[in-house]
Amino acid sequence: MGRLDGRVAIVTGAGRGIGAAVAEGLAAEGAHVVASDLGVSMDGSGADESPAREVVDRIRASGGTARTDHTDVASWAAAEKLIRSTVDEYGRLDVLVNVAGILRDRMIFNMAEDDWDAVIDVHLKGTFNTTRHAASYWRENQGGDYRLINFTSGAGIYGAPSQPNYAAAKLGIVGLTLSCANALRRYGVTSNCIAPVATTRMTMGIASSKAVNQYDPANERMSPANVVPIVLYLASTESGWLNRRVIGAGNGRISLFRESGVEREIVASSGVWETASAFAEIEGAFRSAIEHPNPFDRPRG
Ligand SMILES: NC(=O)c1ccc[n+]([C@@H]2O[C@H](COP(=O)([O-])OP(=O)(O)OC[C@H]3O[C@@H](n4cnc5c(N)ncnc54)[C@H](O)[C@@H]3O)[C@@H](O)[C@H]2O)c1
Repeated sequence: MGRLDGRVAIVTGAGRGIGAAVAEGLAAEGAHVVASDLGVSMDGSGADESPAREVVDRIRASGGTARTDHTDVASWAAAEKLIRSTVDEYGRLDVLVNVAGILRDRMIFNMAEDDWDAVIDVHLKGTFNTTRHAASYWRENQGGDYRLINFTSGAGIYGAPSQPNYAAAKLGIVGLTLSCANALRRYGVTSNCIAPVATTRMTMGIASSKAVNQYDPANERMSPANVVPIVLYLASTESGWLNRRVIGAGNGRISLFRESGVEREIVASSGVWETASAFAEIEGAFRSAIEHPNPFDRPRG
Protein backbone atom coordinates (compact mmCIF):
# COMPACT_ATOMS: atom_id res chain seq x y z
CA MET A 1 0.00 0.00 0.00
CA GLY A 2 1.39 3.38 -1.03
CA ARG A 3 0.36 6.75 0.37
CA LEU A 4 -0.72 7.84 -3.15
CA ASP A 5 -2.39 4.69 -4.42
CA GLY A 6 -4.62 5.41 -7.42
CA ARG A 7 -3.81 9.12 -7.62
CA VAL A 8 -3.01 10.46 -11.07
CA ALA A 9 -0.15 12.95 -11.33
CA ILE A 10 1.49 14.94 -14.11
CA VAL A 11 5.09 16.04 -13.53
CA THR A 12 6.60 18.49 -16.02
CA GLY A 13 10.39 18.59 -16.29
CA ALA A 14 10.33 14.92 -15.24
CA GLY A 15 13.26 13.84 -17.40
CA ARG A 16 16.05 15.10 -15.19
CA GLY A 17 17.07 16.46 -11.81
CA ILE A 18 14.32 17.26 -9.33
CA GLY A 19 11.45 16.42 -11.71
CA ALA A 20 12.82 12.90 -12.32
CA ALA A 21 13.18 12.30 -8.57
CA VAL A 22 9.63 13.59 -8.00
CA ALA A 23 8.17 11.39 -10.75
CA GLU A 24 9.90 8.30 -9.37
CA GLY A 25 8.88 9.17 -5.80
CA LEU A 26 5.21 9.63 -6.74
CA ALA A 27 5.16 6.33 -8.63
CA ALA A 28 6.86 4.50 -5.74
CA GLU A 29 3.93 5.58 -3.53
CA GLY A 30 1.38 4.17 -5.99
CA ALA A 31 0.51 7.20 -8.15
CA HIS A 32 0.01 6.83 -11.92
CA VAL A 33 2.54 9.27 -13.30
CA VAL A 34 2.71 11.14 -16.59
CA ALA A 35 6.42 11.95 -16.83
CA SER A 36 6.49 14.93 -19.17
CA ASP A 37 9.71 16.44 -20.48
CA LEU A 38 10.80 18.10 -23.70
CA GLY A 39 14.40 17.03 -23.14
CA VAL A 40 16.03 20.38 -23.84
CA SER A 41 19.50 21.57 -22.93
CA MET A 42 19.80 23.94 -20.02
CA ASP A 43 19.28 27.04 -22.17
CA GLY A 44 16.11 25.56 -23.70
CA SER A 45 17.57 24.53 -27.05
CA GLY A 46 17.09 21.14 -28.73
CA ALA A 47 14.64 18.37 -27.82
CA ASP A 48 15.24 14.77 -26.80
CA GLU A 49 12.69 12.12 -25.86
CA SER A 50 15.17 9.84 -24.08
CA PRO A 51 15.35 11.52 -20.60
CA ALA A 52 11.60 11.10 -19.94
CA ARG A 53 11.67 7.60 -21.47
CA GLU A 54 14.50 6.51 -19.18
CA VAL A 55 12.61 7.76 -16.10
CA VAL A 56 9.49 5.83 -17.16
CA ASP A 57 11.60 2.71 -17.80
CA ARG A 58 13.02 2.95 -14.26
CA ILE A 59 9.54 3.42 -12.77
CA ARG A 60 8.14 0.42 -14.66
CA ALA A 61 11.16 -1.72 -13.75
CA SER A 62 10.35 -1.06 -10.08
CA GLY A 63 6.71 -2.07 -10.57
CA GLY A 64 5.22 1.44 -10.88
CA THR A 65 2.82 2.88 -13.46
CA ALA A 66 3.96 5.70 -15.71
CA ARG A 67 3.93 6.95 -19.26
CA THR A 68 6.09 9.41 -21.13
CA ASP A 69 5.05 12.70 -22.65
CA HIS A 70 7.09 15.34 -24.47
CA THR A 71 4.98 18.47 -24.16
CA ASP A 72 6.64 21.87 -24.52
CA VAL A 73 5.08 23.60 -21.51
CA ALA A 74 5.59 26.98 -23.18
CA SER A 75 2.86 26.02 -25.70
CA TRP A 76 -0.73 26.75 -24.65
CA ALA A 77 -2.15 24.20 -27.09
CA ALA A 78 0.31 21.45 -26.16
CA ALA A 79 -0.37 22.01 -22.44
CA GLU A 80 -4.10 21.66 -23.08
CA LYS A 81 -3.46 18.39 -24.92
CA LEU A 82 -1.31 17.11 -22.02
CA ILE A 83 -4.14 17.65 -19.51
CA ARG A 84 -6.81 16.25 -21.85
CA SER A 85 -4.83 13.13 -22.82
CA THR A 86 -4.08 12.38 -19.15
CA VAL A 87 -7.75 12.58 -18.20
CA ASP A 88 -8.70 10.51 -21.29
CA GLU A 89 -6.21 7.80 -20.39
CA TYR A 90 -6.56 7.59 -16.59
CA GLY A 91 -10.06 9.03 -16.14
CA ARG A 92 -8.86 11.79 -13.80
CA LEU A 93 -6.10 14.23 -12.81
CA ASP A 94 -5.40 14.69 -9.09
CA VAL A 95 -1.96 16.28 -8.95
CA LEU A 96 -0.08 18.70 -11.20
CA VAL A 97 3.59 19.31 -10.39
CA ASN A 98 5.16 22.09 -12.50
CA VAL A 99 8.93 21.53 -12.41
CA ALA A 100 10.14 22.26 -15.99
CA GLY A 101 12.71 25.02 -16.24
CA ILE A 102 15.65 26.53 -18.12
CA LEU A 103 18.32 29.14 -17.43
CA ARG A 104 19.70 32.03 -19.52
CA ASP A 105 21.76 33.93 -16.96
CA ARG A 106 22.93 37.45 -17.85
CA MET A 107 23.31 40.65 -15.89
CA ILE A 108 20.37 42.99 -16.54
CA PHE A 109 22.57 45.38 -18.60
CA ASN A 110 23.63 42.54 -20.94
CA MET A 111 20.37 40.63 -21.28
CA ALA A 112 19.01 40.08 -24.79
CA GLU A 113 15.27 40.23 -25.39
CA ASP A 114 15.31 36.58 -26.40
CA ASP A 115 16.93 35.52 -23.10
CA TRP A 116 14.19 37.31 -21.20
CA ASP A 117 11.36 35.88 -23.33
CA ALA A 118 12.63 32.27 -23.32
CA VAL A 119 12.88 32.08 -19.52
CA ILE A 120 9.54 33.80 -18.91
CA ASP A 121 7.93 31.50 -21.52
CA VAL A 122 9.07 28.25 -19.94
CA HIS A 123 8.78 29.11 -16.24
CA LEU A 124 5.96 31.63 -15.87
CA LYS A 125 3.87 31.03 -18.96
CA GLY A 126 4.62 27.29 -18.86
CA THR A 127 3.36 27.06 -15.27
CA PHE A 128 0.31 29.12 -16.28
CA ASN A 129 -0.40 26.96 -19.36
CA THR A 130 -0.63 23.62 -17.57
CA THR A 131 -2.31 25.16 -14.51
CA ARG A 132 -4.94 26.92 -16.60
CA HIS A 133 -6.10 23.75 -18.30
CA ALA A 134 -5.91 21.64 -15.14
CA ALA A 135 -7.92 24.32 -13.29
CA SER A 136 -10.80 24.18 -15.75
CA TYR A 137 -10.83 20.38 -15.46
CA TRP A 138 -10.85 20.63 -11.63
CA ARG A 139 -13.64 23.23 -11.68
CA GLU A 140 -15.75 21.03 -13.95
CA ASN A 141 -15.07 17.93 -11.85
CA GLN A 142 -15.59 19.09 -8.29
CA GLY A 143 -15.50 16.64 -5.40
CA GLY A 144 -11.86 15.60 -5.82
CA ASP A 145 -8.87 16.27 -3.59
CA TYR A 146 -6.72 18.13 -6.08
CA ARG A 147 -3.19 19.48 -5.77
CA LEU A 148 -1.24 22.16 -7.61
CA ILE A 149 2.48 22.10 -6.71
CA ASN A 150 4.66 24.73 -8.39
CA PHE A 151 8.40 25.34 -8.30
CA THR A 152 9.78 28.76 -7.43
CA SER A 153 13.32 29.71 -6.37
CA GLY A 154 15.29 31.61 -3.78
CA ALA A 155 16.73 33.43 -6.83
CA GLY A 156 13.38 35.23 -7.13
CA ILE A 157 12.66 35.59 -3.45
CA TYR A 158 16.10 37.08 -2.67
CA GLY A 159 16.91 38.58 -6.09
CA ALA A 160 19.88 36.76 -7.71
CA PRO A 161 21.83 39.55 -9.47
CA SER A 162 22.75 37.57 -12.61
CA GLN A 163 19.26 36.12 -13.11
CA PRO A 164 16.78 38.99 -13.64
CA ASN A 165 14.68 36.93 -16.10
CA TYR A 166 14.65 33.84 -13.89
CA ALA A 167 14.09 35.85 -10.68
CA ALA A 168 11.12 37.66 -12.24
CA ALA A 169 9.61 34.42 -13.58
CA LYS A 170 10.08 32.57 -10.31
CA LEU A 171 8.56 35.32 -8.17
CA GLY A 172 5.76 35.52 -10.74
CA ILE A 173 5.13 31.85 -10.02
CA VAL A 174 4.69 32.73 -6.33
CA GLY A 175 1.99 35.24 -7.29
CA LEU A 176 0.32 32.72 -9.59
CA THR A 177 0.41 30.08 -6.85
CA LEU A 178 -1.13 32.41 -4.24
CA SER A 179 -3.82 33.56 -6.69
CA CYS A 180 -4.71 29.94 -7.52
CA ALA A 181 -4.75 29.09 -3.80
CA ASN A 182 -7.36 31.76 -3.21
CA ALA A 183 -9.36 31.02 -6.37
CA LEU A 184 -9.39 27.23 -6.44
CA ARG A 185 -9.75 26.16 -2.80
CA ARG A 186 -13.53 26.09 -3.22
CA TYR A 187 -13.11 23.54 -6.01
CA GLY A 188 -11.10 21.16 -3.81
CA VAL A 189 -7.65 22.31 -4.96
CA THR A 190 -4.72 23.29 -2.76
CA SER A 191 -1.96 25.37 -4.33
CA ASN A 192 1.54 25.66 -2.89
CA CYS A 193 5.00 26.28 -4.24
CA ILE A 194 8.39 24.91 -3.38
CA ALA A 195 11.74 26.72 -3.47
CA PRO A 196 14.16 23.79 -3.78
CA VAL A 197 17.90 23.44 -3.48
CA ALA A 198 19.51 20.38 -5.03
CA THR A 199 22.57 19.43 -7.01
CA THR A 200 21.45 19.08 -10.64
CA ARG A 201 22.85 20.29 -13.95
CA MET A 202 21.21 23.64 -13.17
CA THR A 203 23.43 24.14 -10.13
CA MET A 204 26.63 22.60 -11.55
CA GLY A 205 27.97 26.09 -12.23
CA ILE A 206 27.68 26.90 -8.55
CA ALA A 207 29.24 23.52 -7.65
CA SER A 208 32.37 24.42 -9.60
CA SER A 209 32.72 27.69 -7.70
CA LYS A 210 34.99 26.90 -4.75
CA ALA A 211 33.20 29.49 -2.65
CA VAL A 212 30.01 27.43 -2.38
CA ASN A 213 30.82 23.87 -1.40
CA GLN A 214 27.23 23.02 -0.50
CA TYR A 215 26.61 22.13 -4.18
CA ASP A 216 29.42 19.57 -4.26
CA PRO A 217 27.89 16.43 -5.87
CA ALA A 218 29.32 14.40 -2.96
CA ASN A 219 27.03 16.25 -0.52
CA GLU A 220 24.16 13.78 -0.06
CA ARG A 221 22.00 16.37 1.66
CA MET A 222 21.83 18.12 -1.73
CA SER A 223 20.42 15.12 -3.58
CA PRO A 224 17.19 15.88 -5.52
CA ALA A 225 15.72 12.97 -3.51
CA ASN A 226 15.60 15.29 -0.48
CA VAL A 227 13.09 17.54 -2.26
CA VAL A 228 10.73 14.60 -2.83
CA PRO A 229 9.21 13.98 0.66
CA ILE A 230 7.46 17.36 0.86
CA VAL A 231 6.13 16.91 -2.71
CA LEU A 232 4.73 13.48 -1.77
CA TYR A 233 3.10 14.94 1.33
CA LEU A 234 1.58 17.83 -0.63
CA ALA A 235 0.37 15.40 -3.33
CA SER A 236 -1.36 13.18 -0.78
CA THR A 237 -4.93 13.55 0.46
CA GLU A 238 -3.47 14.15 3.94
CA SER A 239 -2.28 17.69 3.13
CA GLY A 240 -5.67 19.26 2.37
CA TRP A 241 -5.26 21.72 5.26
CA LEU A 242 -2.03 23.17 3.82
CA ASN A 243 -2.66 25.88 1.22
CA ARG A 244 -1.10 29.09 -0.12
CA ARG A 245 2.40 28.39 1.14
CA VAL A 246 5.94 28.92 -0.12
CA ILE A 247 8.00 26.01 1.16
CA GLY A 248 11.77 25.63 1.13
CA ALA A 249 13.07 22.09 0.51
CA GLY A 250 16.50 20.53 0.08
CA ASN A 251 19.90 20.29 1.71
CA GLY A 252 18.34 18.21 4.46
CA ARG A 253 15.76 20.83 5.42
CA ILE A 254 12.11 21.67 4.91
CA SER A 255 11.13 25.25 5.75
CA LEU A 256 8.24 27.65 5.51
CA PHE A 257 8.70 31.10 3.96
CA ARG A 258 6.69 34.02 5.19
CA GLU A 259 4.15 34.92 2.56
CA SER A 260 6.37 36.86 0.15
CA GLY A 261 4.98 40.23 -0.72
CA VAL A 262 1.90 39.70 1.40
CA GLU A 263 3.19 40.41 4.86
CA ARG A 264 3.87 44.04 5.58
CA GLU A 265 4.98 46.01 8.52
CA ILE A 266 3.56 49.41 9.31
CA VAL A 267 6.55 51.61 10.05
CA ALA A 268 4.97 55.07 10.00
CA SER A 269 1.45 55.80 11.16
CA SER A 270 0.99 59.47 11.97
CA GLY A 271 -1.45 59.70 9.07
CA VAL A 272 -1.05 63.39 8.06
CA TRP A 273 2.39 64.76 7.26
CA GLU A 274 4.13 67.90 6.09
CA THR A 275 6.95 66.98 3.70
CA ALA A 276 9.68 67.69 6.27
CA SER A 277 8.04 65.69 9.04
CA ALA A 278 7.17 62.89 6.58
CA PHE A 279 10.82 62.57 5.48
CA ALA A 280 11.97 62.42 9.09
CA GLU A 281 9.34 59.90 10.11
CA ILE A 282 9.83 57.69 7.02
CA GLU A 283 13.61 57.67 7.35
CA GLY A 284 13.57 57.05 11.08
CA ALA A 285 10.94 54.33 10.91
CA PHE A 286 12.44 52.55 7.86
CA ARG A 287 15.97 52.63 9.29
CA SER A 288 14.72 51.22 12.54
CA ALA A 289 12.69 48.48 10.81
CA ILE A 290 15.47 47.53 8.38
CA GLU A 291 18.40 47.72 10.79
CA HIS A 292 16.48 45.92 13.52
CA PRO A 293 14.21 43.40 11.76
CA ASN A 294 13.31 41.85 15.09
CA PRO A 295 10.85 44.40 16.61
CA PHE A 296 12.02 43.45 20.11
CA ASP A 297 15.58 44.64 19.29
CA ARG A 298 14.47 48.15 18.29
CA PRO A 299 15.70 51.11 20.26
CA ARG A 300 12.80 52.79 22.01
CA GLY A 301 11.93 56.45 21.85
N1 LIG B 1 18.34 22.70 -8.55
C1 LIG B 1 18.13 23.71 -7.73
O1 LIG B 1 18.86 23.91 -6.72
C2 LIG B 1 16.97 24.63 -7.94
C3 LIG B 1 16.89 25.78 -7.15
C4 LIG B 1 15.80 26.62 -7.28
C5 LIG B 1 14.80 26.29 -8.20
N2 LIG B 1 14.91 25.17 -8.99
C6 LIG B 1 13.79 24.89 -9.90
O2 LIG B 1 13.47 23.51 -9.81
C7 LIG B 1 13.04 23.03 -11.09
C8 LIG B 1 13.88 21.82 -11.51
O3 LIG B 1 15.22 22.21 -11.67
P1 LIG B 1 16.41 21.15 -11.87
O4 LIG B 1 17.55 21.68 -11.11
O5 LIG B 1 15.94 19.77 -11.63
O6 LIG B 1 16.73 21.39 -13.44
P2 LIG B 1 17.11 20.37 -14.64
O7 LIG B 1 17.73 21.20 -15.70
O8 LIG B 1 17.87 19.21 -14.10
O9 LIG B 1 15.69 19.84 -15.14
C9 LIG B 1 14.77 20.68 -15.79
C10 LIG B 1 13.99 19.85 -16.79
O10 LIG B 1 12.98 20.69 -17.39
C11 LIG B 1 12.86 20.32 -18.76
N3 LIG B 1 12.32 21.42 -19.57
C12 LIG B 1 12.92 22.61 -19.83
N4 LIG B 1 12.15 23.35 -20.65
C13 LIG B 1 11.03 22.62 -20.90
C14 LIG B 1 9.86 22.88 -21.67
N5 LIG B 1 9.70 24.01 -22.36
N6 LIG B 1 8.90 21.93 -21.68
C15 LIG B 1 9.06 20.77 -20.99
N7 LIG B 1 10.17 20.47 -20.28
C16 LIG B 1 11.14 21.39 -20.23
C17 LIG B 1 14.30 19.97 -19.18
O11 LIG B 1 14.32 19.16 -20.34
C18 LIG B 1 14.84 19.28 -17.92
O12 LIG B 1 14.71 17.88 -18.00
C19 LIG B 1 13.16 24.23 -12.05
O13 LIG B 1 11.90 24.86 -12.15
C20 LIG B 1 14.14 25.13 -11.36
O14 LIG B 1 13.98 26.47 -11.74
C21 LIG B 1 15.97 24.35 -8.88
